[in-house]
Amino acid sequence: MGQTPEQIIDGQRQDWNRVAGGWEKWDRFFDEQMACLNHRIVADARLRSGIKVLDLGSGTGYPALLGAQIVGMSGSVIGIDLAEQMLAAARRKAAGLKLSNVTFQTGDVTALPFETASFDAVTSRFCLMFLPEISKATAEIARVLKPGAWLSAAVWSVPEKNAYLTTPLAVIKQFIELPPPDPTAPGIFRLAKPGDLAKMLQDAGFVNIAEEEYLAEVRFPSGEEYYESLMDIAAPIQNLFTRLSTQQQTEARHRIVGSIGQYRRADDIALPIAVRMVAARKPFG
Ligand SMILES: C[S@@+](CC[C@H](N)C(=O)[O-])C[C@H]1O[C@@H](n2cnc3c(N)ncnc32)[C@H](O)[C@@H]1O
Repeated sequence: MGQTPEQIIDGQRQDWNRVAGGWEKWDRFFDEQMACLNHRIVADARLRSGIKVLDLGSGTGYPALLGAQIVGMSGSVIGIDLAEQMLAAARRKAAGLKLSNVTFQTGDVTALPFETASFDAVTSRFCLMFLPEISKATAEIARVLKPGAWLSAAVWSVPEKNAYLTTPLAVIKQFIELPPPDPTAPGIFRLAKPGDLAKMLQDAGFVNIAEEEYLAEVRFPSGEEYYESLMDIAAPIQNLFTRLSTQQQTEARHRIVGSIGQYRRADDIALPIAVRMVAARKPFG
């Protein structure tokens, strides 16, 4: 039997709390590698000085911290996430950046603890596909946005274009049978299909919906660094990995590092990523 939404949310909270240390350990690296995504998200959400922004599933602060820099001291950003440990890291980073206009609070994106029409923009990076009830979240986003305000969200696109994520999955499948993914179950690729999130936003009443598949690479000096960094932060992949025996894990590591050799370029290893960028606006009414 499938899990209830509450069980899925509990699992998500545990998963992301467990990897929070890994996110903090690799923060500088991923900050540098994935900054372009944050810039794209805040641009699509039309962030500007003085506005009030909500960031969903902020984790260790992306893109909330960039948002806070853009809205400045006359504006503010609230980041919400299930995982307190991830948010604790985000708060440390905000303090390090001397940003006093951003706050982080625990909460569930499908039941936002905010008043109707209280935000000028909503941003979200790599969160919405993990929700058991995405349509509840899109309805909530529509509710808390002011008329005319924008949502901008990034989710993973299709597995075929995301070797960065799928390389370990392909190797794990050599050891254990993974059931064919249920297309409606929460997970990394739940919103990968073109038009899926856009349709949900349309159903929630959004207009001016724009969607683009954004291609980039994450670059690593070595296969070992790729393996260690991904395994430290990717809770869903970690979960599958723990199903292998210790001996299988050692062999899988060897095969993963070996198989990404094909992405070696002159100076580094460049793993492709494809991100679905979706922006939409709440009508003026
Ligand atoms: C892959 S991390 C992304 C974090 C950050 N936005 C980033 O891009 O670096 C996914 C985050 O979504 C959060 N999350 C998952 N389901 C959630 C929910 N129902 N409500 C709030 N946060 C949720 C997790 O706790 C986790 O921190």
